[in-house]
Amino acid sequence: MNLILLGPPGAGKGTQAKRLQDRFGIVQISTGDMLRAEVAAGSEVGLQAKAVMESGALVSDDILIRMLGNRIARPDCARGFILDGFPRTVPQATALDRLLTERGTKLDAVIELVVDAPVLVERIAGRFTCAQCGAGYHDAFRRPAVEGVCDKCGGREFVRRADDSRETVQARLDAYQRQTAPILPFYAAKGLLHRVDGMAEIDAVTAEILALLARLPAATAA
Ligand code: AP5
Ligand code: MG
Repeated sequence: MNLILLGPPGAGKGTQAKRLQDRFGIVQISTGDMLRAEVAAGSEVGLQAKAVMESGALVSDDILIRMLGNRIARPDCARGFILDGFPRTVPQATALDRLLTERGTKLDAVIELVVDAPVLVERIAGRFTCAQCGAGYHDAFRRPAVEGVCDKCGGREFVRRADDSRETVQARLDAYQRQTAPILPFYAAKGLLHRVDGMAEIDAVTAEILALLARLPAATAA
């Protein structure tokens, strides 16, 4: 099963992708996480991406399409994947079609998480993750059960993203409206687009996604 999770910054793509990964045993591919790993490694791609990401703008299509093509060619993608943060432009969406056709596979569903802008800013400004295992938390909505200790791995160090300041969030939301929202009609025209209320509780969002996937014959087979 091959899925896309679409939605503005803070919509819950990463949160839901991790749950679908656990549920179906298919891999989450977060292009944001991949780029942050390149930045941390100080690679050539990371050096090009760092300032762009910190400004809230999008990294070039060339870099992302090459990165995604290499990633989905890896053996762990054979059973399927959940794209989290890709495609983000019309050229990326058309390149993805080409990459999937070359591999003899296709998309099963594109899920748009719909959330109001003021809620997105609150979610992002309060977000932090475990430095050890990447489990996600939030200052207001999802604190660790024991203060300062990760629920999942017991880690005691937490990190916040460099692009999660309130000012940068606005630039990221603008980039979404200008460059990413135009791909929604592209997938609607193919009959692949499903809209989910991303304002609901995290568990309720997961339940709605699972319900819609259960209605897709190809998805239940995965
Ligand atoms: P990326 O890492 O993809 O960031 P993003 O799209 O801005 O989205 P986020 O990761 O901020 O949000 P999310 O939707 O994953 O939400 P989350 O689950 O964390 O990209 C970063 C940058 O990399 C881009 O700006 C760009 O520069 C570059 N980039 C990446 N891909 C690219 C591409 N394809 N092309 C070009 N450039 C690219 O949830 C947010 C918070 O809300 C969490 O604290 C969570 O716990 C909480 N939460 C989630 N769901 C709920 C809920 N239902 N109720 C209450 N709280 C919730
Ligand atoms: Mg994310």
